[in-house]
Amino acid sequence: MKTNSWEGFSKLSLQERKRRLVDEGILSKEDCDDLQSGALDSTFADHLVENVIGVYSLPFSVAPHFLIDGKSYIVPLVTEESSVVAALSFAAKLLAHNGGFQTQILGNMSIGQIQFPIVEDQQSFEEKILKEKHNLIEKSHSFVPNLTARGGGVRDILIRFLKRPDQKKMAVLHVLCDTKDAMGANLINQICEHLKPELERLTQEKVGICILSNLVDTKLVEATCDLAIEASLASSIEEAHLFAQLDPYRAVTHNKGIMNGIDALLVATGNDFRAVEAGAHAYASLKGQYTALTSWTYKNDKLHGKLILPIACGTVGGMTKAHPLAKLSLKILNIKTSQELTRICAAVGLAQNFSALRALCQEGIAQGHMKLHASNLALAAGATNENEIQCVRDKLQYSPLKTVEQAKKILDQFRKVKRHVVGCHCEICETKHGNLEFMRAEGSNSINS
Ligand code: HMG
Repeated sequence: MKTNSWEGFSKLSLQERKRRLVDEGILSKEDCDDLQSGALDSTFADHLVENVIGVYSLPFSVAPHFLIDGKSYIVPLVTEESSVVAALSFAAKLLAHNGGFQTQILGNMSIGQIQFPIVEDQQSFEEKILKEKHNLIEKSHSFVPNLTARGGGVRDILIRFLKRPDQKKMAVLHVLCDTKDAMGANLINQICEHLKPELERLTQEKVGICILSNLVDTKLVEATCDLAIEASLASSIEEAHLFAQLDPYRAVTHNKGIMNGIDALLVATGNDFRAVEAGAHAYASLKGQYTALTSWTYKNDKLHGKLILPIACGTVGGMTKAHPLAKLSLKILNIKTSQELTRICAAVGLAQNFSALRALCQEGIAQGHMKLHASNLALAAGATNENEIQCVRDKLQYSPLKTVEQAKKILDQFRKVKRHVVGCHCEICETKHGNLEFMRAEGSNSINS
């Protein structure tokens, strides 16, 4: 699959986009039916969570052009926010002409925490744990035989001491576990809970809570890119990055943009985006001040971008294989391992950040974002067909006020002096024996009624 073969994809209609994916062998006809229906029925949903009364749908999109570590990807995305998919496709397309993204996995250990609220004798506690560490690790493998059979399991146990307000010591064990292709939350929690009685016996101290940590700085991934752009834009992006590096008020918005892309991919693949969000923001403040997750530097005529963040996601377990559209997302990505998904997440985060910063440094965010957001405003104003949406969208583009109220005004005017064009599916056209005949009979392809 060549990246440039997706040129013009965004200009296709919804049906044409699906046909294109079918023609490329990425989607089957049955997949298209699933996409049409949303694929999740309420009986299935009723078994997923509690007190279900229905199913809530969101748009399912794809961003083509992604070239990551030399491999081309079509990235599935589920988001309600306009311009996220466009921004990702835009950056991916530009980057594909600049060698794409390079990624690296910087660790693959999940963290389970076992808390001992008060440890009286720190030294003796430490000695007992260290002496039995190997046996504890061995024992933990019997709690999760399937994971052990897949080559995963606990690799190490670390001890941390925290000073309490009453000056006593709290101890926390970090159980480092390779969960292979599962996100692993349930596996980690099971291991830690099973170790609890053994640890209480060994240390003669009481365990508090056992739970995984979402701050997986042991599971970092890095994405980088280099692109040749004008020096003035590159310098502006460097400055925008410095702003986010120095100021938490800016950094949080900068990072929110990064997560716009990553979350959309995680939702599409049935992953726990809240866990990754929490981990990313905690990692951004790990050095004592909340800061930007990316860095941008201009050197030797190239803008160099880098993103490092912790990502715990899976390609097995949880919703990944249970939700038909999550399964379809993995098929569209054409991946098997969670590490590959992690790499794609990082590239997507960096791509999103580039597009947002480029727009902020050039035309401003409103132009691109609000142009695409105008369709949402049309829907919010009550537009019911393609003609109405198009009219509101076109008129809003030239309006200084881009609000629902303004969209309502435009829609009211449109309905008063309705224009019919070829392709119009309004009630009048539809009831007059099909749109084209009506247009021909009127002798025009754009008339007022
Ligand atoms: P443009 O220059 O008008 O794009 O940019 P174009 O028409 O020249 O098209 C170039 C390519 O962009 C297309 O290639 C598509 O890949 C993509 P083609 O398909 O033609 O071969 N593209 C689209 N894809 C799907 N639907 C579309 C579409 N338009 C272009 N409608 C664009 C237009 C919106 C991309 C640009 O203005 C942009 O990137 N704006 C930034 C928007 C953005 O970053 N949105 C994210 C949400 S806002 C956010 O992140 C929060 C923030 O606060 C973060 C922060 O502060 O750091 C901003």
